[in-house]
Amino acid sequence: MEIIVSYNKNRTIKIFSNIEKLANHSADFLMKRVKDKSSFENVSIALSGGSTPKQIFKFIADNYAENIDWQKLKIFFGDERCVPPNHNDSNFKMAKEELFDKISIPGENIYRIQGEKEPVKEAERYSEILKSNLTHKNNLPQFDIVMLGLGEDGHTASIFPDQIDKFYSDKICEVAAHPQTNQNRITISGSVINNAKLIVFIVTGEKKANIISEILSESASSTMYPASLVSPKQGELIWMLDTEASQLLDSQIKQAGIIL
Ligand code: 6PG
Repeated sequence: MEIIVSYNKNRTIKIFSNIEKLANHSADFLMKRVKDKSSFENVSIALSGGSTPKQIFKFIADNYAENIDWQKLKIFFGDERCVPPNHNDSNFKMAKEELFDKISIPGENIYRIQGEKEPVKEAERYSEILKSNLTHKNNLPQFDIVMLGLGEDGHTASIFPDQIDKFYSDKICEVAAHPQTNQNRITISGSVINNAKLIVFIVTGEKKANIISEILSESASSTMYPASLVSPKQGELIWMLDTEASQLLDSQIKQAGIIL
């Protein structure tokens, strides 16, 4: 069973009864967007990091390896930990193992954030990569799709609550530091996130239920969370949630939903 709530123009919440259904639908949805793009146009996507996307990547690799024109897809990263690409913390390493190694995407279509480099210089380099490989709108690089995860503290990409000023940075990429581990991160800024044509949050698990409820109910305190500032200028915003992550959502949101 899925609940689909269009809670206002271009904003949708989709709730799935389990992670498998969420992964399958998210993968189908993203791949359909790739297919819908006219044949000669590339599709640009910024992948999210962390552990949640692993199931999505696996489903795509298992079900779409042969029926997507991977030449059309330009894959970027919304953020990366400042570690080498073979480090277990690397978002690239996870995406490579779960997806890139299982599909025939040309290496030049994958734009890795070089986490092993000096962070400030890498943030500048990656900003130039985005500027020269994406279309532009509002004088900023524009992604077709930005995938985002959500931390329990309300961070998204690598924009953390204690560095929320980086959300509205006038830079394309920023250097951030994880508040607990102090690990450096490279992240696209919120200005670039909100410039995307489509933003898809993928959030699962009961540990995210509190933050989901705060952000989606737009509670007074929610503006201190970077994820609450995600609001595409002209694009679409879709929250893909499982029932665990959505369990505290107020009933109005759920009642507005169309039970499929
Ligand atoms: C990262 C991510 C980050 C992640 C959230 C959720 O590099 O860690 O980009 O924003 O999406 O922290 O992570 P989980 O999916 O592991 O819960």
